[in-house]
Amino acid sequence: MKRREFLGACGVMAGAAGLTCPSGAGAQVETRRYPPALLVDIHGVPIQAAKLAAETNYVFQYPFAATPCFLLRLAKPSAGPATLRREGGGRYQSPGGVGPGRAVVAFSAICAHKLAYPTREVSFIRYQRDRSSTSAGSVIHCCADHSVYDPVEGARVVSGPAPQPLAAIVLEHDPATDRLAATGTVGAEQFEPFFAKYEMKLALEYGGRGRRPVEGTTVVRELAQYCRNTIQC
Ligand code: FES
Repeated sequence: MKRREFLGACGVMAGAAGLTCPSGAGAQVETRRYPPALLVDIHGVPIQAAKLAAETNYVFQYPFAATPCFLLRLAKPSAGPATLRREGGGRYQSPGGVGPGRAVVAFSAICAHKLAYPTREVSFIRYQRDRSSTSAGSVIHCCADHSVYDPVEGARVVSGPAPQPLAAIVLEHDPATDRLAATGTVGAEQFEPFFAKYEMKLALEYGGRGRRPVEGTTVVRELAQYCRNTIQC
């Protein structure tokens, strides 16, 4: 499937998913539709899911120019759609993994506690493969205040002060080409408080373009290439 055809198909799927509709066990599927964006490398070449290194932090911007997300290929398949709860009680289903082994997932990288996120200078939040004195490993761990999320189960909160899971990024996978596209979000977006909290910083960094929607393509980088200092804990 060619790039335009794939993104066109993604738009149709995202449109269908954009409906809020009842799902099993009384949960609400709450998918917010955004323009689809093909995941590409720094040269504009489409990312292929099978070539992602397992348990490695990748970062891309979506659905806005200033909002970072993690792309992860897990060591084991995601648990499939998990029923999760937002702060305030609303339930939703995470989208589960896509691609080979259904192990590729993506989440907003804005911590659900106090909105720590990966910047070019530093990141307190990242996928942590190995066990440490503060967590069991194979988790997304925000070292700012030790909120720990399980990426296998839709980034549900394992421990720490975060009041709700990370928002999931909806990915579409084309089995014919192994390409990936982001098409929306599920769960509690933090974008408005994020833009409010970091207004000055984002204005300096993006010159007013931080809220610009990502469309067409979005560049995927390893966190180690994106950010100079990743805090370990
Ligand atoms: S900002 Fe992430 S745990 Fe507090």
